[in-house]
Amino acid sequence: MKLKKSWWLLVIVSLGVIIPFVAPYLTLDPANSRVPINSTAIQFPLLVAHIVFACVALISGFFQFIERIRIHKPKIHRYLGRIYVSSVFISGLLALAVVFYIENFTKTTAFLALSLTWLFTTWKGYRAAVRTSFDEHRKWMIRSFGVTLVAVSGRILVPVLFLTYYILNGFSLPGGREKMIEDVLNINIWVGLVLNLIIVEWVILKSKK
Ligand code: HEM
Repeated sequence: MKLKKSWWLLVIVSLGVIIPFVAPYLTLDPANSRVPINSTAIQFPLLVAHIVFACVALISGFFQFIERIRIHKPKIHRYLGRIYVSSVFISGLLALAVVFYIENFTKTTAFLALSLTWLFTTWKGYRAAVRTSFDEHRKWMIRSFGVTLVAVSGRILVPVLFLTYYILNGFSLPGGREKMIEDVLNINIWVGLVLNLIIVEWVILKSKK
């Protein structure tokens, strides 16, 4: 019961964090983009498509961990599973293209690592389901969804990283506020990815017991 409650809390927090980030892109106006757009003909449509499919992955993924559906409605689980896997593949491949438009090297490598980890863990989870290795399937899909949730944790971590930056600089901002924001937004995805992968392995080990 406790786990179920915390799952719904995660759903609410995730949607609460992600909706304000997604909304500007649904206007389909590049002027509303929060990230720099160098090409309205290619980069922006790729980014919007990435975001739309990522939202489908996030929402369908949440349903896959609801025991009532997974155990009692296996057909719905399989149907939603196909939607999750397809949207991760589409969104992840689009992300690989969008990465080429990012100017900062640290941020580029973070998104590159994130895309590849997303595609790899989802592929492994999908293949395990096809082979009917359900224990493997469960582990890889927990990993895959943990990576999906980096979109949430990476953003939640921003204020924590601002504070860390301030403390590590001896309670000062040597390069000013702009520099702090820039530095934090270049590493938040890396930190989110490492943190989520650790949490996910801990969840898998704990559930084994
Ligand atoms: C987990 C794998 C994901 C990868 C590899 C990925 C990759 C990317 C990349 C490369 C960008 C462009 C960043 C830039 O140009 O600075 C981006 C932006 C964005 N992505 Fe994803 N993404 C992922 C998951 C998600 C999910 C699950 C969502 C939402 C449900 C999402 C929503 C967004 C939004 C809203 C932006 C615009 C950035 C902003 O306004 O802050 N992404 N993503």
